[in-house]
Amino acid sequence: MLAPAATAALAQLPAFRREVFEARLERWLPDLRAALDSLYVDSAAVADRLVSTAALAYARRADDLHHLDLRRSLQPDWFQLPEMVGYAAYAERFAGTLAGVAERASYLTGLGVRYLHLMPLLDPRPQPNDGGYAVQDFRSVRADLGTMADLRALTERLRSDGISLCLDLVLNHVAREHEWAVRARSGEPRYRDYFFLYPDRTMPDAFERTLPEVFPDFAPGSFSWDDELAAWVWTTFNAYQWDLNWANPDVLCEFADIVLHLANHGVEVFRLDAIAFTWKRLGTDCQNQPEVQALTQALRTVARIACPAVAFKAEAIVGPRDLIAYLGTGARFGKVSDLAYHNGLMVQIWSMFASGDVRLATRALKQLPAPPSTTAWVTYARGHDDIGWAVDDADAGSAGLSGPAHRAFLSDFYAGRFPGSWARGLVFQENPATGDRRISGSLASLAGLEAGDPWAVHRILLAHALILGFGGLPVIWMGDELGLLNDPGWESSAPTPERAGERPDNRWVHRPRMPWPVPPDRHGISAGVRRLVLARASLPHLHAATAAEVLDPHDTGVLLVARRHPLGPMLGAYNVMAEPRHVPLSVLHELGMDPASVVDHVAGSTPTIRDDAVQLEPYAALWLTAPL
Ligand code: GLC
Repeated sequence: MLAPAATAALAQLPAFRREVFEARLERWLPDLRAALDSLYVDSAAVADRLVSTAALAYARRADDLHHLDLRRSLQPDWFQLPEMVGYAAYAERFAGTLAGVAERASYLTGLGVRYLHLMPLLDPRPQPNDGGYAVQDFRSVRADLGTMADLRALTERLRSDGISLCLDLVLNHVAREHEWAVRARSGEPRYRDYFFLYPDRTMPDAFERTLPEVFPDFAPGSFSWDDELAAWVWTTFNAYQWDLNWANPDVLCEFADIVLHLANHGVEVFRLDAIAFTWKRLGTDCQNQPEVQALTQALRTVARIACPAVAFKAEAIVGPRDLIAYLGTGARFGKVSDLAYHNGLMVQIWSMFASGDVRLATRALKQLPAPPSTTAWVTYARGHDDIGWAVDDADAGSAGLSGPAHRAFLSDFYAGRFPGSWARGLVFQENPATGDRRISGSLASLAGLEAGDPWAVHRILLAHALILGFGGLPVIWMGDELGLLNDPGWESSAPTPERAGERPDNRWVHRPRMPWPVPPDRHGISAGVRRLVLARASLPHLHAATAAEVLDPHDTGVLLVARRHPLGPMLGAYNVMAEPRHVPLSVLHELGMDPASVVDHVAGSTPTIRDDAVQLEPYAALWLTAPL
């Protein structure tokens, strides 16, 4: 039953608008109910609240956004298209303010960008705030970046250039300064229930027996004592980021309202930050619990009712076995997020470069089931975070490696400590208890440009060819298209640590400022990336609905990715070694390709065929199809 305010809001609308709402409700209510039934006892009441929220937001939605909803409903595969290419940046580091970003839109269109992820820009607590991931108000923009009106203006401007804006929805936690946390501290029972609070160490100790540490270095443990609360509060990340209790339906209702509010400002994609952590269960690592997918399904159906232009992108940086659930398996097939980061591909790109061997990558990528055909991976080589070596022990074992030894090798290699390494990364969050070490560093510095390695530019372009040619929505991290190196002044950008003696957050080493005017393209990196983007846009085979099939390698230095599209097969071949390698013609024959007529879209010419094999130059990528 709708709340009276929602009924009144709908009654104000023209008849056709009401009909659209009702049709959408009929379409999505069963999915909403199914999701809520698996989460809450009073699921029917929660459904009513959410539908009322959807009705109010729908009634407030502006005409241009209703029009966008219609366009997206007519083309639901908009984010799967080969011409979709993304870019991710901090608004402030890219262009100072939101208005500045709008002024730089032509740079993005020049690169072929159709999707822009701006890093957290909603009002965070004062520093430290984990790069904005400690939000104190979801309904206002960080003051130095602009206002909500600027956000609306930016989305309009970007849309007129064919660019969709993606924003972070930080839903696992809020800043200690957020109103909900403040009210919890002042003792309001309603808000105390928004968090996980424990009077003594009994439950924290019980949970910590099976909880991994996310920031063992700067924020050891997963609970923080708070004097004002007189309780231990769950803090997976930093002590100032308080985990929310999603088992409380009020939290879901709050976030549904926030999503719709931001969607009504023109936001088109929500990056569901740290979504894996949102449901806790004693005796587990409290990640990837099935309820997480039900929560996403609930939020997504509410958005489908009020603003179907909106898509959801899961940021679940988890092991390969857990990843596919974020796009939906079983009863939730295709009902969860529309997009999910392909963390496994990112890790394997770096693993292949360090080892010059594709066998582990092949094994790991083959393990992943194909995502639902209505969804897409977000493919990326670098982002704002560190790289954690999510290499599965079983995958490593079947490639003849030891998981722990390979992970240690990758950390050593990318920290520049392995003999012969060309990488210049920094060790992030060394965990002496597990031996785990993650790596910070810019794509160019990790690929050898800083060390002056002669193959660095080839590796940078190969990394881009891999993310642009794998299939999915590729996202370029700001500055990688220019080959920006590690920022030597990163320590002054990193917030001062809260506690004396704590190490500064070295992820700031790969979060540089955009150098305007853009320096001359000395190494040809920008031109190379741009060529790849254009080539990608011309290949219907790269529509994300066509699955990427990783083939067994015939040459351990060449990753093979086939895509069987109705227009004919496409074969991606990626040489991860600094020496010439090959693809036997039998691979093409098996795919039904005619080697005599095949075209390579990376070079825009016919490939070199010799000795019954297609030849690949060092670090070359080939995108082969029949002539288009
Ligand atoms: C995500 C962000 C990361 C942040 C964490 C906590 O993983 O990408 O930067 O530290 O969430 O919000």
